[in-house]
Amino acid sequence: MTTSLIRPAQALLEVRDVHVAYGKAEVVHGISMDVRAGEFVVMLGRNGAGKSTLLHAVSGLVPKRSGSVHFEGHDISHATPRDIVKAGIVQVLEGHRVFHTLSVEDNLLIGTYARHPHGDRSQLDRIYTLFPELAERRHQMASRLSGGQQQILAVGQGVIGDPKLLILDEPSGGLAPIVIDRILAVASQLCASGLAILLVEQLVEKALRHAHYGYLVETGRIAAAAFSDELREGDLLQRVYLGGAPAAQQQEAVS
Ligand SMILES: Nc1ncnc2c1ncn2[C@@H]1O[C@H](COP(=O)(O)OP(=O)(O)OP(=O)(O)O)[C@@H](O)[C@H]1O
Ligand SMILES: [Mg+2]
Repeated sequence: MTTSLIRPAQALLEVRDVHVAYGKAEVVHGISMDVRAGEFVVMLGRNGAGKSTLLHAVSGLVPKRSGSVHFEGHDISHATPRDIVKAGIVQVLEGHRVFHTLSVEDNLLIGTYARHPHGDRSQLDRIYTLFPELAERRHQMASRLSGGQQQILAVGQGVIGDPKLLILDEPSGGLAPIVIDRILAVASQLCASGLAILLVEQLVEKALRHAHYGYLVETGRIAAAAFSDELREGDLLQRVYLGGAPAAQQQEAVS
């Protein structure tokens, strides 16, 4: 991806000095980061670094010990998950969680419930155009989909709510490389049409190819923040992930 080395001026999501603890154990130690309007931002870091915890704190799924989160200038630090969805932030959780006993279409309609208590069918066509593989299987039970198709359904369920910021937590988890290529390509397409993306991903090379800007999280702190090209060219990622091997090898090691 070609990146201009200027971030858009308008901040969409502003996370400031956020601390999160599980019981007495603090795992996020004062993270500050931004997603600007129209950006595709990736958050990288080893297992257990605190990436999902930070995302959950943004989405209101875990309480913050301290710090603030603003979205479009509004303080959402203490908002409920439902109000955060209504404000325009939708998080697709780790592990392609869909309702196995419901059809593809009913799973998609669930994604509209935050704004429409009875579901909004008017958005289905948009999703089926974006994901033809879901259109073909609209009446199938989600349990009959492959893992990759379930992940695409989970993304569709997020996108159908028409968010302003889509958060994707490790969409590649356990799936074939071709599926993650498809999901990242769709995320880039959505970003080009104005949706901001915040991605957490272990497939470093693939993620940096699509993202404009990246943050590296190490044990609950931001260790680096830079444009994707700078992160790819620097040696910090290699040090953090493999103790010296190039990021491309790390990519091969996990895909
Ligand atoms: N519900 C929980 N209760 C207690 N500790 C937790 C809980 N969830 C996560 N942790 C711990 O918090 C730390 C950060 O976990 P988190 O899931 O945020 O990391 P992550 O960067 O998303 O890792 P991964 O790449 O494996 O998904 C880890 O030490 C983890 O064991
Ligand atoms: Mg995680």
